[in-house]
Amino acid sequence: MAEVIVTGGAGFIGSNFVHHVVAERPDWHVTVLDKLTYAGNLANIAGLPEDRVSFVKGDIADADLVDALVEKADAVVHYAAESHNDNSLQNPRPFIDTNLIGTYTLLEAVRRHNVRFHHISTDEVYGDLELDDPARFTEHTPYNPSSPYSSTKAGSDLLVRAWVRSFGVQATISNCSNNYGPYQHIEKFIPRQITNVVAGIRPKLYGAGLNVRDWIHTNDHSSAVLKVLEEGRIGETYLIGADGEQNNKTVVELILELMGKDPHDYDHVNDRPGHDLRYAIDSSKLRAELGWQPKFTDFRSGLADTIAWYTEHEEWWAPQKAEVEAKYAKAGQ
Ligand code: NAD
Ligand code: DAU
Repeated sequence: MAEVIVTGGAGFIGSNFVHHVVAERPDWHVTVLDKLTYAGNLANIAGLPEDRVSFVKGDIADADLVDALVEKADAVVHYAAESHNDNSLQNPRPFIDTNLIGTYTLLEAVRRHNVRFHHISTDEVYGDLELDDPARFTEHTPYNPSSPYSSTKAGSDLLVRAWVRSFGVQATISNCSNNYGPYQHIEKFIPRQITNVVAGIRPKLYGAGLNVRDWIHTNDHSSAVLKVLEEGRIGETYLIGADGEQNNKTVVELILELMGKDPHDYDHVNDRPGHDLRYAIDSSKLRAELGWQPKFTDFRSGLADTIAWYTEHEEWWAPQKAEVEAKYAKAGQ
């Protein structure tokens, strides 16, 4: 049996990965290491078999705790992060502590114990593209991050590369585009708009809403990460994407339509400072080298399922709704 530590496994994408591993790898045991920040929620991994998944509440920057866990593990899959751009613009410090110092702490532990490490990162490290640029990000695109969030993720990627080259750490990196699906915190774009509609609040679009994101269902992200963890070449970076480019305006209007509302019944609010215009991923390397294919590529039906999930799980998000909206209202968003 493989013992796999999943950092940030009580957050959005990490918890979806834990569910995926429990279903797909019956002889693996997962230990979730998560600080349970505002973004972590034990409900995301509730109900999984106790003999398959253990939970440790703790900080990835706690060197003693991390060392004791890593010593007993075969692999670490590192999702834990401060993940929201808007928060990083208000208060960057936790992003430095978790995304940089936390990643450094994990790297030192896997180096000491020679444990396989997979680092989860984002397409935002590459900055942004023009709307009419036919180019997409590849593994060779130069790093050019825009926000405190994306710059700390870029820094963490570079730490991983240095630990591979200088110390022989057995690591891979994947950089994925925007995920959507169940368990995503309602501060994020898609769940914020769905829960706004349920709560009788008009959806909020930053600026003109022409910014493009490359959407991938979180289940496809999970299958890609498992692929890279098991078959990826050490020291390599793999971009993960499912050809899902949509501008924000189209997404808001689709959410309203799917929820039976007037598709134009939303507000334009203050834009995000430094707002990246467009992200687009070319995932040819992952597909050609490791034979990975996304399965959940019908955005309309994935969005309908996501709307159904939030509608059916109001108890999961309702306690945080007022606080999240009050924070946005302060920024005129
Ligand atoms: P999230 O904010 O939903 O979850 C982050 C989790 O990390 C939470 O459970 C939180 O409690 C935990 N955490 C935060 N700081 C911690 C610390 N110091 N120690 C231990 N645990 C801590 O984030 P997400 O959207 O699930 O993103 C997960 C990872 O995927 C991040 O590394 C992010 O950069 C990356 N990523 C996200 C997306 C996306 O679309 N959301 C896309 C590509 C990559
Ligand atoms: O590209 C991957 C990244 O995707 C991840 O690295 C980040 O962790 C994740 O949060 C996400 O970053 P974005 O900034 O793209 O996601 P967010 O959901 O915050 O916003 C998506 C788009 O929607 C962006 O252009 C801003 C816009 N937006 C966002 C909110 C919250 C709105 O128009 N209205 C909103 O209310």
